[in-house]
Formats: sequence, C-alpha cells, structure tokens
Amino acid sequence: MARISASVYTSHVPAIGVALDHGKTDEPYWRPLFAGYEPSQAWMRDHTPDVVFLVFNDHATAFSLEMIPTFAIGTAAAFAVADEGWGPRPVPGIVGHPALAAHIAQSVIQQDFDLTLVNKMDVDHGLTVPLSLLFGQPAAWPCPVIPFAVNVVQYPPPSGRRCLNLGRAIRTAIESYDEPLDVQIWGTGGMSHQLQGPRAGLINSEFDRAFLDELIADPERLAAKPHVEYLREAGSEGIELVMWLIARGAMGDLAGGPAPTVEHRFYHVPASNTAVGHLVLEEAAS
Ligand code: DHB
Ligand code: FE
Repeated sequence: MARISASVYTSHVPAIGVALDHGKTDEPYWRPLFAGYEPSQAWMRDHTPDVVFLVFNDHATAFSLEMIPTFAIGTAAAFAVADEGWGPRPVPGIVGHPALAAHIAQSVIQQDFDLTLVNKMDVDHGLTVPLSLLFGQPAAWPCPVIPFAVNVVQYPPPSGRRCLNLGRAIRTAIESYDEPLDVQIWGTGGMSHQLQGPRAGLINSEFDRAFLDELIADPERLAAKPHVEYLREAGSEGIELVMWLIARGAMGDLAGGPAPTVEHRFYHVPASNTAVGHLVLEEAAS
C-alpha cells in the first residue's frame, strides 16, 4: 500500500523563482533565504519520495477569474509550466501520476469532498517555486507531482476545518492505493503578506511564528481560526496559509498515530513582499 512519509510546507514568492532562474542566489539579499532551504534539500536527497501531492493555489493563471474551483485535482500525465507574463520559468515540465490522482479523486469524492477534475492545467509559481526550493535546479524533477489547487484568490476560500479534514481524507485515499509508493504531501503559500491596498507590505512575524508553533503542536485548534483573523493579522494574501492545514491533516497523528518529527523549521523576512516560512515534518515510524 502507498504511505505518506512526510509533509513539507513552504511559501511560494515569485521573486524567489526569478532569483534562482537568473543566478542571484548568492546576492546578499537572497543568500540567507536560500541558506534556510539547504538542510531541506539535503534531507530531500536522502528522502526523495515516489510522488509529491502538492497543495498550492493558482493565481488566476490556469483558471482566470471566470471559473474558480474550490478544490481541483490534477489528473493529467503532464503539466506545462505557465507563462505568467514573462515567459514560462526555465524549469522542467511536471510529470503527473494519473493513476494515483484518479484513485485519490475517487476515494476523496466518495468521502464527501467534491473535487474538480483537471485534465489540463498550466502550473504557475504557486507550484514551481516550492519545487525549486526543495529540489534545486535539476534537469528533470526527481518524481511525479500531483497538483492540487485550492481557491484562496477570491472569497470565500474553504475553512481551516474543512482543509484539515480534507487532509485526513487524502491520507485515507493514499493509504488505500494498492502499490507501495512513498508519498509526500506539501502545503504551500503564505506566510503573512498583503500585495494590495493601504496595508500593502504588511508582515506579522508574531502571527507567523505562532502559526508554525500551532501547526506543529495543535493543528485541531489552528483549524478553528476564522478567515477574518488571517485577513486581519496576516494580510489579504496571508489566507494562503489555510492550504497548509490540508497537508497537516494528512499526517498520522490526526488519525490517532504518534506526532511527526520536526525535521527542519525556517522563517525569514523579507522575500519580495512576503514573510517566508518553511517546515518539514517527518512521519513517525510506526
Ligand atoms: C508575492 C507573493 C505571493 O504569494 C504571490 O502569489 C505573488 C507575489 C510577493 O511577495 O511578491
Ligand atoms: Fe501567492
């Protein structure tokens, strides 16, 4: 049977992709940020999964604002890198895992979460920047990726509680897939940032650090946090953080198992307009 081995969390700032793609990672502004991901890249080389289930948000790239699914699972065999206005990032295309994705869709929908099936989707910085941060700059990504897009762009996004419970359902789905695959689930986006309006540039490190603490230690409590609190404390784009609860909900302790191990934790301000947070939680051996 397939199993979830770890969950990984990271922000997805587009300027990080630009810095990587244009060889700027050693510049003083960027060095501390990329240094914070080096331990995770080393860990990832020793723990490369068979598949990454990558929870992210599309930024009106694949879906525009004409049609916005709340939860959309990528069931295609491949996903192209999106052109977000400056040409596609020079990173490898994404290979999907249609069989596992179809199985997860079947199981999760039968567990009463309505997913949109996406058989064609270009993926934007929300997906490619996390891949670059964790896998570096390989000629091909080391494993297939199942993109899972969540609406956090236009209100109303899903609640934290629904995201946590969806994570549980995804775990059940993966654990019922009849092939011994090592699957990681990634939660991406956040941390505090606001890109628009009078509060543009807002960062709230106290909120972000408390979010990381609570995500590790008490995700059930964190799931009760209302949207208005994210908006007020973490800025209008801080709501991207609800996606982290999907990945957290898929960890074994939420199904009665032991707590995961914190493999790496990192926090850095600023990257462009955003506070960057990063966590690697490894599933406890059972
Ligand atoms: C920035 C952050 C985001 O999450 C995003 O989607 C776009 C831009 C930024 O900080 O510049
Ligand atoms: Fe974003």
